[in-house]
Amino acid sequence: MPYPDHALDVPEQTAVAAAAASAPSVLNSQPWLFTTGPQGVEVHADPRRAPTATASAQRDVYLSCGAALFTVRAALARLDRAVRVSVLPEAGDPLFVARVTVTGDGGDPEAAALYRWVGDRRTNRYPFRPEPVPAGVLALLSGAAEHEGATLRRLDAEPEYQRVLTLIRRASLAEDDAVREDRTDRLTTGVPPAVPVENLGPVPRRDGTDSGAVRDLAPDLALPGRGTAAFEPHPELAVLETAEDGPASWVAAGQALQRLLLEATGHGIAASFANQPLEDAELREEVSSSAAHFGHPQMVLRMGYPLTRPPAAPRRPQHEVLRRVGR
Ligand SMILES: Cc1cc2nc3c(=O)[nH]c(=O)nc-3n(C[C@H](O)[C@H](O)[C@H](O)COP(=O)(O)O)c2cc1C
Repeated sequence: MPYPDHALDVPEQTAVAAAAASAPSVLNSQPWLFTTGPQGVEVHADPRRAPTATASAQRDVYLSCGAALFTVRAALARLDRAVRVSVLPEAGDPLFVARVTVTGDGGDPEAAALYRWVGDRRTNRYPFRPEPVPAGVLALLSGAAEHEGATLRRLDAEPEYQRVLTLIRRASLAEDDAVREDRTDRLTTGVPPAVPVENLGPVPRRDGTDSGAVRDLAPDLALPGRGTAAFEPHPELAVLETAEDGPASWVAAGQALQRLLLEATGHGIAASFANQPLEDAELREEVSSSAAHFGHPQMVLRMGYPLTRPPAAPRRPQHEVLRRVGR
């Protein structure tokens, strides 16, 4: 039987998988596998790729796959396809994350517009301009998170801001040796390494003005070519939260993350993350324990206007992450 007109041809499948693989992932582990065919795309987790030493290991895989899933949706919308999305669970397939089935022509225009920023988005661990993110842009980012069933909680009240900053610093200081060694191995193994020196950004200059919100992913390594820098003293911080906690919520949070990061990129705003307190079960509890909020924290974001644009971080070759089926 011939395929309908809206079926995906091979170049379209290749383009969608390439876009999906450019999504952010924990330590650039890219813990996903894509199955593409004329009828759509499936996203599966590949947890062998991801860090295992943290309390957030499983969650981070689903968050990463959720970010890839939103990118699949945006890429298909850009190809003017309407889709149906079904997210886990799938009986008998514990690594299944989601299936995106093409149902006809006519892509979601908002998702299609966000696709434009997929290639420009970067995690930016360089200093930002010491300038606030405009309230109107923050409202758009909150709207993007809500669209995907998550909440972007701005840390705009000073006591709460300082409380979360303290938790970030505490987490960095208390990090287990095994966790740090595992991360160092993952960062430095491979050619190119998962997070090259240009993507690590400079070592924050600890001169009393540093907020501690910019994560130094490689504090134990003296890397040639890596300088130091003073960072903006009062970065814009926000916590991405979900009402429930578990694989489906993590996938939703991952989609919300990528949606809001693409929206931010379109407005000239970059982000990096300070997830260290979320990688420890007790500290994560404290991030969420503020009186007014009962959401489950999934990501801690630092946002601002970038001064420097890092190169795109490397990705696994497509043949490692893509399986094609004819059906
Ligand atoms: C679940 C998750 C957790 C992350 N945690 C951090 C973090 O704590 N600090 C950080 O600097 N980057 C963090 N990142 C960003 C990744 O390191 C980044 O996406 C990856 O290196 C690929 O680079 P890119 O985003 O520039 O494409 C995280 C990303 C995800 C999806």
